[in-house]
Amino acid sequence: MSTSKTLRLGMIGTGGIAVTQMRTLATRKDVELVAIADINAATLQARGDAFGVSARYTDWRKMLKQEKLDAVSVCTPNRTHAETAIAALKAGVDVLCEKPMAHTAAAAKRMVATAKETGQKLVIGFQYRFNPRTQFLRKAVNNGEMGRIRFGRVQALRRRGIPNWGVFGQKELQGGGPLIDIGVHVLEMTHYTMGSPKPVSASADMFTYVGNKPSNQVESVWKGWDWKTYSVEDLAVGRIRFEDGAVLHIESSFAAHIEKDTFNFQLMGEAGGCTWEPARIHRDEGGYMVDKEPGWLNPKQGWQDMFDAKMHAFVDHVLHGKATIAPAEDGLAVQQMLDALYRSAEAGGRDVAIR
Ligand SMILES: NC(=O)c1ccc[n+]([C@@H]2O[C@H](COP(=O)([O-])OP(=O)(O)OC[C@H]3O[C@@H](n4cnc5c(N)ncnc54)[C@H](O)[C@@H]3O)[C@@H](O)[C@H]2O)c1
Repeated sequence: MSTSKTLRLGMIGTGGIAVTQMRTLATRKDVELVAIADINAATLQARGDAFGVSARYTDWRKMLKQEKLDAVSVCTPNRTHAETAIAALKAGVDVLCEKPMAHTAAAAKRMVATAKETGQKLVIGFQYRFNPRTQFLRKAVNNGEMGRIRFGRVQALRRRGIPNWGVFGQKELQGGGPLIDIGVHVLEMTHYTMGSPKPVSASADMFTYVGNKPSNQVESVWKGWDWKTYSVEDLAVGRIRFEDGAVLHIESSFAAHIEKDTFNFQLMGEAGGCTWEPARIHRDEGGYMVDKEPGWLNPKQGWQDMFDAKMHAFVDHVLHGKATIAPAEDGLAVQQMLDALYRSAEAGGRDVAIR
């Protein structure tokens, strides 16, 4: 835990998500945004000017060496998460790492091991567990309202939403496509809601049919993605089995031929079930099949609000010692599931062990 009253924080990567984070951090009197690092000098300059940060580095290693930081937030492409987070932890700096935790499970394991060795804090940027709908359902599961969870359906499906910025289509830099980029959000909040059971095996199939073709053929929000470097899946479908016998089906896509985008999960337990959107529980009560919804949920459910909650929770964890609900161990379990799904797809869809 930081001993100072203000948290001296640095950013590694200052692209889209970093801006979302910095907006929240800028509202905290107990956070000093001391330095920022990005390999792109133009981005670095724009962010430094926008947030009034004068210490700017094109090499994050120099930033770690020269600035006395309490914490960093890692907001770079997935492949660099492990390298940057591990170096920061070894330099005695607490870390918030954006999702997915890493590009592979092996990298995520090294991160958890380093956090243990160094005693530094490592938190994963899973904002969806701060969503009031997730909290409502998590508490219901915890209270036994669903009984034993048997099955879940995880869906993160875009009809046409291949990012036309960043490196989201490059397997080498991201570790995968929609599954690791947006599937991870719904998977992590489903797993959290279920009570984080231990995953044991997985199987998956993946398909690419739009992303690797000229990207301006059809009208869509993010036309013009870099189709020539596109090396990830368009659609991933998989199945994960847990130690307690529960099973999850996952579907994730940047380009699915469906009516409308779906970002949701559903759980089916022995005593009840639920959906996330709308947050609704289905149970037998008093001789009736009942559907129930909370009469009021904090209306602050928007994207930036979840980010606010995530950033405040990180600062409160490292500066004030409050418990985190997004520990690195949860990030690792999610990464192991993603990793196994990718390994299975590479192995022709056969069941592989989660490790
Ligand atoms: N939590 C969320 O909802 C959410 C949303 C979007 C992105 N993300 C995650 O945030 C990360 C970044 O995504 P983004 O949308 O901000 O991408 P982005 O492309 O907008 O920004 C990434 C930035 O990192 C910089 N960068 C690349 N390599 C670097 C290095 N070695 N050292 C320093 N800077 C480096 C790039 O120049 C760029 O400015 C990804 O891991 C992504 O999955 C999370």
